[in-house]
Amino acid sequence: MKPCAVLTGASSGIGEAIGNMLCEENYEVYGFGRDFSDCRVESPNFFHRIKGDLLDTPWLLEQVKRIQKDQKISLLINNAGVGYYGLHEELNTKKIQEMVRTNLEVPMILTQLLLRRLKQEKGTIINISSVTAQKENPHGCAYGATKAGLFSFSRSLFEEARKYGVKVVDLQPDMTKTKLYRNADFGEGKEEASYLLPEDVAEAVRFILQQKDRLAVTHMTLRPQLHRIQKKKE
Ligand SMILES: NC(=O)c1ccc[n+]([C@@H]2O[C@H](COP(=O)([O-])OP(=O)(O)OC[C@H]3O[C@@H](n4cnc5c(N)ncnc54)[C@H](OP(=O)(O)O)[C@@H]3O)[C@@H](O)[C@H]2O)c1
Repeated sequence: MKPCAVLTGASSGIGEAIGNMLCEENYEVYGFGRDFSDCRVESPNFFHRIKGDLLDTPWLLEQVKRIQKDQKISLLINNAGVGYYGLHEELNTKKIQEMVRTNLEVPMILTQLLLRRLKQEKGTIINISSVTAQKENPHGCAYGATKAGLFSFSRSLFEEARKYGVKVVDLQPDMTKTKLYRNADFGEGKEEASYLLPEDVAEAVRFILQQKDRLAVTHMTLRPQLHRIQKKKE
């Protein structure tokens, strides 16, 4: 039986690259997203697209129950995320709630639903947080706070679950060339060395999964060589 993974945000960017890598590594992947129209994962037979809104909690509970009926999940990757940037007074309640719920509430709920099974399987949880988790983030105060919260959750959960053989990893990419910045007035710099590619993050996940049982990677930061961002034209 193939090892089985639940992956959120599988429809684009970093999640799509992780989905491809997991299929190469012989995983059966249950990938969550709302819009898979641009998703190119190359193993359609073992990549199950679960289409819907992660913020619809009853729907999410139903999906996890359904997957768990047939599969022993040994890997959970909490990758779905959303970012709104700018002066904090210029955000609105809806955007703040969407970030807190997507970036922090959903990973906590999915972990709670799957943790017993992950303990039985001596499984792995990888939370895709961000370099913002460990620094001050003017013009991204709320986004950074959700990622700092996720990092705190990852650290505490590792201490709680390590004796059961569960690994918990907080993976913290810096600027990666994806659609995450669609709502921002900035994006990655022009030079190739100023941003990561989604595949770079997927390779870090592959590296984490290849470690020996007795070794736990607890957090990892990925940074481009150069620090450049580019203001979008008005
Ligand atoms: N790009 C960066 O520079 C960077 C840096 C550090 C950390 N990260 C983190 O990396 C993760 C992946 O982001 P990305 O850069 O790959 O951006 P992305 O291309 O915008 O991907 C975000 C993913 O999250 C999914 N998603 C968001 N809200 C959802 C919802 N309510 N229901 C279902 N799916 C939802 C999206 O699905 P749909 O589009 O189908 O709705 C999409 O698959 C995020 O957690 C982000 O914070 C990114």
